[in-house]
Amino acid sequence: MKTKQLSGATILLSFVILLASGGCKNEKQAEGTDKLLYDMAKETTGFTWYKKSDALLNTTSGSGHSFPFLRTRYNQIAAAKLNDNGQIIAGSTFPEGSVIVKEFHDDSRKLARYAILYKASDNSDADSKGWVWGYINADGTVAQESGKKGSGCNECHNQSGNIDYMLMNKYFP
Ligand code: HEC
Repeated sequence: MKTKQLSGATILLSFVILLASGGCKNEKQAEGTDKLLYDMAKETTGFTWYKKSDALLNTTSGSGHSFPFLRTRYNQIAAAKLNDNGQIIAGSTFPEGSVIVKEFHDDSRKLARYAILYKASDNSDADSKGWVWGYINADGTVAQESGKKGSGCNECHNQSGNIDYMLMNKYFP
């Protein structure tokens, strides 16, 4: 009898713990392509900073991004399209495997979110230009799923002056 009561209490307790730990969170941890993008974004070695500087820049008025500070970096494959100043060479098309990460930092200059562009035409989440769009918070929760194929992002990134969707050159000449 006592054992039975105890197990009932244990089940109830586990349920309460489960609710407290996961039940209150409505944001979902990255998985699948989002997890892949998140892991790539967290890696900083082998990246080159835009204009060769890791200084935080003020988000521009043309930006669709709501954080005050940003900085952008390119993996080794993407960096092949940067000139000696660390800016994108006009007319470039980025090669397969390119990873471009924009870090957003909040008011206290703490890393808050990654915006990621990954050139992988054969990925099922790639858009018609072969880019996979990631929008993932620093804690690994997803801000916009890559399965949306950059919906809401690529319209703005397709504006005049873009280079294979990239806007850093236009807004930080
Ligand atoms: C209203 C316009 C707008 C929208 C919408 C927008 N962006 Fe951007 N994005 C910009 C601008 C402008 C920049 C240049 C830096 C800045 O000022 O933020 C930029 C920069 C970037 C960069 C750095 C690479 C580069 O040179 O452009 C990435 C990566 C990026 N955005 C990803 C995204 C993703 C992912 C989304 C959708 C979830 C998105 N953007 C939605 C305007 C936009």
